Parts: sequence; C-alpha cells; structure tokens
Amino acid sequence: MAQKEKARKEKTEHWGSQVGVVLAVAGSAVGLGNFLRFPGQVVTNGGGTFMIPYIVSLLLIAIPIALCEWALGRAGGRRGFHSPLGIYHSVSGGKKFWGLLGGLNALAPFVINMYYIFIESWCLLYALQYFGGVLRSLGLGGFSIFSHVDPGLYFESSEGYGNFFGSLVGISENGSLFKFASSPLLLSTIFCAACNFFLIYRGVSKGVEKFCKFAAPLILICSILVIVRVVTLGNPTGLPGRSFLDGLGFMWNPTREVVLPNGDVARTSVLTTLANPDVWLAASAQIFYSVSICLGAICTYASYVKAKEDIALSSISATMTNEFCEVVLAGLMAIPPAIMFLGANAGDGLASSFSLGFVVLPNVFGLMPFGQFFGFVFFLLLFFAAMTSSMSLVLPTVALFRESFKWTRGKSVILAAFVNATGTVIVCWYTKDLMALDVFDFWFANLAPFVFAIAQTLFISFIWGLPNLRREIAEGAAIKPPLFIGSVVKYISFPYLIAISCFWAWKNVGARVHEIQQNRIAQLSLGFFLFMIILLSVLSFMVMKRWDRDKAEGKIVSENDLADSQNS
Ligand code: PFF
Repeated sequence: MAQKEKARKEKTEHWGSQVGVVLAVAGSAVGLGNFLRFPGQVVTNGGGTFMIPYIVSLLLIAIPIALCEWALGRAGGRRGFHSPLGIYHSVSGGKKFWGLLGGLNALAPFVINMYYIFIESWCLLYALQYFGGVLRSLGLGGFSIFSHVDPGLYFESSEGYGNFFGSLVGISENGSLFKFASSPLLLSTIFCAACNFFLIYRGVSKGVEKFCKFAAPLILICSILVIVRVVTLGNPTGLPGRSFLDGLGFMWNPTREVVLPNGDVARTSVLTTLANPDVWLAASAQIFYSVSICLGAICTYASYVKAKEDIALSSISATMTNEFCEVVLAGLMAIPPAIMFLGANAGDGLASSFSLGFVVLPNVFGLMPFGQFFGFVFFLLLFFAAMTSSMSLVLPTVALFRESFKWTRGKSVILAAFVNATGTVIVCWYTKDLMALDVFDFWFANLAPFVFAIAQTLFISFIWGLPNLRREIAEGAAIKPPLFIGSVVKYISFPYLIAISCFWAWKNVGARVHEIQQNRIAQLSLGFFLFMIILLSVLSFMVMKRWDRDKAEGKIVSENDLADSQNS
C-alpha cells in the first residue's frame, strides 16, 4: 500500500512553485561555465569585442531556443513524459527518428556530468585548502593598502600555483590520483557524486528545488563579498592601465589598445575582431553551455512544470538570471583581477579557462589582504554553483531509465550513478594533460550542442510546427508573449546555427580526426561513447516499440499510465 502511494506520488511529480522552477533552471544554467569558462573566453577572445557576438548569440539563439525548449518540455510533461526520449517521441506523434534523437539527447548532459563533477570536486578541495590555510601559504605575503605589490611577485608565485594545480589534478601522470597521497581528490569526487545523486533521488521539488533555494542566496552573497574585495583593490601594481576600471573597460570596450614588447601601441579595431569567425564561434558555444540549452536539461526540468504555468515568464527570468550571474557577477569578479595583475594581454598567457580560475585567481588572492578568506568564499561559491548544474545534467537520464524500465526513482538513480561512475573513473585515471577530460568536453560540450541545436530547431520548425509552439507558449502566460519568437527560431536561429556549425566543423574536425588516429586515450574515450550510443539506441527503440504496441492495444502509454498499470 505504502509502495503504491509512493509510486503514485512519484509519477505526479511537479515543482513546488514557479519561483522554485525558475531557481532550478537558473541553477542549472549558472555554474562553472559562468564563473570559469566565461571570463576565460572574454580574456582570450578580445575582451569587449567578444561581447558583441556574445550578445547577438544571446538574442538570436539563447532566448528563443530556451523558450522553445520550455514549451517542448511542458508539452511532453502534459503527455506524461519527462525524459527527452519520451518528450520527443510523444510530441512528434510517435515518430521513431525523433524519439531516438531525444534518447541520444539525454546522453550528452550525462557524459558532461562524468567530468563536471570532477571539476566540481576541485572547487570543493580548493575551498577546503583555503579554509585550512594551505593555499594561503603559497602566496608571497600580500600587499598592504599603503604600498603597491611588485608585479614580479605575481609571476614568481604563479609557478607555485600552477604546480599546485597540476599536482592536485594529476596533470603529469595518468593514474596518479589513484595513489594514496592523492586520495583527497578522489574522496572529494565521490562526495560530490554522492550529493548529486542523493538530491536527484529526493525528487524535483524535495531535492533539486529545495537545494537551489538554499544555494541561490549563498552564491549571491559570496559573489558580492568577492566583488567588494576586487573593487576595493584600487590599482594593486601601480602600473598604468591596471586599475579596476581598466579591467572593466577591457570587458566592455570593443576597441583595444595593447602595448607591444617593443613599446609600440597596437590598436585592434572592432571590425578586425568581428571579422574573425572564431570569435563568433566561441561566443555561441559559450551561450549554449552557459544557458544549458539543447542538452535535454531544460526540457526535462520544464516537463515537471504545472499545466497552466507562465513558461514565457519563467524562461526569460531563468535566462536573465543566468546572464546576470555571468556578465555582471563573473564579469566583475574574475575579469578585472586578471587585467589588474596581468595587463591587457592577460589572455595570451592562459593555457585554458582552468588557468584563470585555478592559477591566476588563487595567485591574485594570495597577494591581497584577507586573500585566504576571499579565496575560500570564491571556491565555495563555485562549488555550490556546480552542484546546482550537475543535478540537471543527470536528471534527463534518470527520467529515461524510469520510463524505459518502469522503475522507481531510487532504482533508476542507482543505475545512473553506476554508469556515471564508469565515465568518471576514465576521466580521473587519464589525467595526464587532462586528456580524457578534454576529449569528453570536446565531443559532448562543444560538438553535441551544435548538433542538437540544429535538430531541435528543425523539430520545432517543421515537425511540431510553429502554431503548436505558439499555442504552448501562450498557455498560462500572464502577458501576451512575443509570438514571433517561433519565426525567429525558424528563419534566423536555424540558418545561423547551420552557418556557424559548418564553420565549426571546418575548423575542428580535421584536427580531432587526426587526434583519434594518434591518441590512445581519444580512441578509448570514443569507443566508450560509441558503446553507450549503441546501448542507448537499442534501448530507445525497444521502449518506443513497447509504447507503440501499448497504444495499438488501446492502452495509453505515458509514464503515468505505465506506473498505473504496474501498481494496479
Ligand atoms: N550551464 C552550466 C554551466 O554554466 O556550468 C553547465 C551545463 C548544465 C551545461 C546543464 C548543460 C546542461 F544541460
């Protein structure tokens, strides 16, 4: 009886409130992409000029596609489905191709999570190291408010911070994390994964929503603390062009003046940078990753929205919350310090986005008064932001297992955790130059969003159709939503995506194919992906066949009905 009641409650799962769902979707979006990846992209892609394609991508891709995904998710949820497989299959009227696409869509965030929790565990460990005073001791004493810090100190200590990071993540040798001395990082990874899956096990309103409501103010408070510290640094080196305002100007001023080593001043015009397609590519990739679109997360979250809720309002609120955290908070917190200490050429010395977050900023914290405290606060906020994102990365797969096997949430979570662990072990083992992480990231966080974005806009424009989309968006909307958004997706986002994806493929595929031919870890990872794609495709087909059969026999086939028949 209790079992029956539990199953009934699970199947009618919804978010507790509209604020809750907005915070959950914003929580999914606000993550390491905002606080680590975005500043890294701005610094390495020309500062202010990057912001132009970034804003264009926000308007042409992120806002319209996010709204479509909300509509698609709620339409699927109304039919009783929560996994991308069930959502695409049911909304397309039972078309297997689109169902399969939905099934594979769930795989992308799942694979991202395999390494995302690893990075999350770095943040936790950095926060703990600051708390325990280990990282502070690497700094060379800091500067007082009455005197400037010698920039030489920064460069002297940067090697120390680089080495610290390298040895923490095992960058020099595969398998080094599995040696006893490195076990804290493994323990921290296990802890992050356990928290992640436990919150999913608790369910959308009791787990995800509650946690996001707790984490959101914490992230905001921590950000404000760090920003106040950064703003009050003044000009720590005393060199020209290194004040806080110069840092801010770097991010917002499209024309740049750079002093070359020979003393000449080089001026980059807006047009030169805008003519470089790489910058457009970097901007749209950043938008996909940051807003969490096209990876199954938003549509899964939206499928738990109540029937008459205002999704237009929720969608725009969640996207704008993400932009606030990215452009305003991360823009104030991470970019100015990099410019203040490294100058306008900051991006040239950065090996990756990780360098900014895990080497440059700790170095900066090490040189500022109370740096230990601010370092702790910064990494704590990264950890919480990552937690709220990683939950959304696994929920689509958990929903897929529930619908496929007619399992309870608990059982589905256990299977998902087990499969996730296999990928995380690969990432944690092959840490030399973070090779496995890089391969996972390339195929699933860089390539997959473009593929799924094209497929999704195609689906919305030509299969589901704009009239259905408009009806779904208008349902429950307090203010008449701008219904031309469907046309924007069909006539602007879609061709824009095709153009940018072709360019992306032209730029990247050759080098990556070469990498696969040469590199054993890339081959192993690809084999692993292929294995999962095959398994998932077979599973998706079997499940869709069962749904079709049930439908033909007059049984309704939603997850709700399946749960009904199972428990009656
Ligand atoms: N948006 C997250 C971040 O900025 O870190 C990452 C992410 C979460 C990407 C969920 C995709 C996703 F489906």
